Amino acid sequence: MNSEQIKKYNFSMRIMHWIVGIFVIVQLAGGFFMKDIELSLQPSIYSLHKSIGVLIGLLCIVRIANRLNSSIPSPHQSISSFERFTSRIGVFLLYAGMFVMPISGYLMSIYYGYQVLFFGIGLPLIVETNNEIASIFSKIHSTTAIIFLGIISLHFLSTIKHILVDKVNILKRIT
Ligand code: HEM
Ligand code: HEM
Repeated sequence: MNSEQIKKYNFSMRIMHWIVGIFVIVQLAGGFFMKDIELSLQPSIYSLHKSIGVLIGLLCIVRIANRLNSSIPSPHQSISSFERFTSRIGVFLLYAGMFVMPISGYLMSIYYGYQVLFFGIGLPLIVETNNEIASIFSKIHSTTAIIFLGIISLHFLSTIKHILVDKVNILKRIT
């Protein structure tokens, strides 16, 4: 085991990581499967997908504001400079995914002319219906979903690598 003591993220960052993380994983899994669900259930599932998606967007604004006001623990001494560099890119892409997904989903829906209901509350239809623009946001939404899933998988695998190969339980930093 590496001897340096594990430094933790502060409580609010740890709690935000897991709340947003779980919602994102549920949302990605639900998103990929919802078009195969029985037709009669689809309106309520799509509506739930949109509400949770907007909630994730709002939570991410809080999360970014919280991050900007928090001190980030320095990486563990066993992390190489190459890994520090790739982890910075990874963190940037994870945050980018957390914003691009809700924004593209919202814009896709309203450009198709569907008002988004946030758990029953109607959100503004700020644009005129335009199917061409809507299909661009639809492509952005589905392509980003695949890239986001790939980055989350690498994020998960790198945590496992640090624990099993480097014998440093970096999970303690975020739990
Ligand atoms: C699958 C389960 C997950 C595990 C085991 C996990 C593990 C971790 C660990 C150990 C860290 C701390 C890294 C360090 O600084 O040493 C971390 C940070 C982070 N995780 Fe996860 N994570 C998971 C899911 C997610 C998901 C789904 C997202 C995206 C929505 C995410 C986004 C982040 C971000 C952005 C950070 C960096 C925090 C910051 O510096 O602001 N994680 N994660
Ligand atoms: C972090 C937030 C979100 C995630 C992770 C997510 C994920 C996904 C995924 C994986 C799909 C399936 C894509 C495919 O089949 O290729 C999807 C589809 C969809 N999402 Fe999201 N989504 C999010 C937010 C939103 C929001 C906020 C809205 C609308 C307000 C939305 C509306 C839709 C719609 C309407 C579809 C169906 C598109 C179609 O069938 O062409 N999503 N989403």
